[in-house]
Amino acid sequence: MAIREIRVIGDDILTKACKEVTKVTQRTQILIDDMLETMYENFGVGLAAPQVGILKQIVVIDVGEGPIVLINPQIVETSGEQTGEEGCLSVPGKWGIVTRPDHVKVRAFDEDMKEFELEGEGLLARALCHEIDHLHGELYTGRVEDGLHDTLAGEDEL
Ligand code: NI
Repeated sequence: MAIREIRVIGDDILTKACKEVTKVTQRTQILIDDMLETMYENFGVGLAAPQVGILKQIVVIDVGEGPIVLINPQIVETSGEQTGEEGCLSVPGKWGIVTRPDHVKVRAFDEDMKEFELEGEGLLARALCHEIDHLHGELYTGRVEDGLHDTLAGEDEL
């Protein structure tokens, strides 16, 4: 495994739509392992493939309950609303207030390309929305309600 360089805001790749994954090759598996290592190394709660320069629909998340890998994830249901702080490893040193659904249901594929559903509330729901936005070339900075603020140490970054 290896730590990959995280692309930061201003890099065009973060604004592009990602391609669907059709097959998990050895290369894909290495990418997933590297994404997890890169996320943990940077104390992130989630990471999407374009953040390491790869335009594929792959997301990793760990909100403190163990790693989740999502391939070609799609939000199929949302409910409720939460308004809170959000940050991103690709927007270092900043945070902003973003409103997201409080509950989301996602359909995705695992590393064996088996389809599964995942439901998340609170931080997991926020992370799922945030990471899936990355796959569509969207950053949370386009959704902030009161501009960007400077980060204090120890805040979650997605
Ligand atoms: Ni992010």
